[in-house]
Amino acid sequence: METKSIVAVRTTINGREHSAEVDSRLLLVEAIRDVFGLKGTHIGCLTGDCGACTVVVDGKIAKSCLMLAASADGREIQTVEGLARDGKLHQIQQSFWDEYGFQCGYCLPGMMFSAKELLETDPRPDEAAIRHALQGNLCRCTGYQKIVQAVSTAADRMSGGTNEEREDDHRDDTPTR
Ligand code: FES
Ligand code: FES
Repeated sequence: METKSIVAVRTTINGREHSAEVDSRLLLVEAIRDVFGLKGTHIGCLTGDCGACTVVVDGKIAKSCLMLAASADGREIQTVEGLARDGKLHQIQQSFWDEYGFQCGYCLPGMMFSAKELLETDPRPDEAAIRHALQGNLCRCTGYQKIVQAVSTAADRMSGGTNEEREDDHRDDTPTR
């Protein structure tokens, strides 16, 4: 008879400590959603192809369907819920909103974290660079054009303005439409 192996996991998610005892075979995406209750990280393909489960682990984007929850022990995770700060949307979120960069929103974790990682290394990407950065993410709704436009708008906003504005990548989350 197969016996379950239980492991202890302690991790920081969006700045808050979480701990749990989980099945050693549990996927990180399942733990984030069902154990830690953060439903913004989505389950799509479970094969690493769609990007819906994307999170940031120790500063690097990762597909959480390809990781075991046990491997998150001692690590820092950011989920899509952690993008906004103090009631203000991140510029990338605001730009997706303003440019109609999503419909159902299922793909947003991967799209927004991939965009964020791109803009951290290339603040003024051209369209080809944006499309390249987003290529590990599938959207079944938008046809991608609006997503590319949203990332381009975020790049303009995050790289323009005064030094003070540049330091804060967040804006009031008052919808502009
Ligand atoms: S659910 Fe992880 S990449 Fe699709
Ligand atoms: S907005 Fe629906 S999958 Fe991208």
